[in-house]
Amino acid sequence: MTIRERGPADDDAIRSLNDAAFGGTYESRLIVDLRDAGLASIELVSLDGTEVVGHILLSALDVTVAGKPVRSLALAPMSVQPGRQRQGVGSALVREALRRAQQQGWQAVIVLGHPDYYPRFGFSAALARPLTSPFSGDAFMALELTPDALKGGEGRVVYPPAFGI
Ligand SMILES: CC(C)(COP(=O)(O)OP(=O)(O)OC[C@H]1O[C@@H](n2cnc3c(N)ncnc32)[C@H](O)[C@@H]1OP(=O)(O)O)[C@@H](O)C(=O)NCCC(=O)NCCS
Repeated sequence: MTIRERGPADDDAIRSLNDAAFGGTYESRLIVDLRDAGLASIELVSLDGTEVVGHILLSALDVTVAGKPVRSLALAPMSVQPGRQRQGVGSALVREALRRAQQQGWQAVIVLGHPDYYPRFGFSAALARPLTSPFSGDAFMALELTPDALKGGEGRVVYPPAFGI
């Protein structure tokens, strides 16, 4: 299994993978819309030989704390081929994406996802709770890549139109 940056030649496989994993087309449209909006910042695929078996996208997100911008990413979507789930493919993608995000100087990552899955990578619903956003509850989680990036005042998350929120 190898992980590398997405290239345009992967796009048909990425679309099929997302449609199969989610059982619909919202996520594959979201991916294209985020790329078109110039927001796709980290996009990786996991390969078994030449076959794309996993995909993750992190896109630039408007987050401010105490009126100051915090360089943040939204983790969405991510998917693993149905027949390849629960074999560590997703975890390897998340860890590599977060490593790259930190290396590139991003300060925080926000995710709306399975509350039992993302905490193992350091995501916390408690950290996201004070942020004003369209989401709330245990599925809305945040991770700081630099210490206290999301603390120090009132926080706000604004999703770009691509999300259709
Ligand atoms: C969620 C997903 C990306 C995880 O990838 P994966 O390669 O299966 O995950 P890993 O093998 O790295 O990790 C397996 C762990 O994830 C957990 N997990 C997998 N799918 C889960 C789900 N739907 N809800 C909660 N936990 C889940 C399992 O409990 C497992 O934990 P365990 O090892 O303690 O049993 C993958 O299952 C998937 O594509 N699901 C459908 C699409 C989706 O829901 N995407 C995420 C949107 S937030």
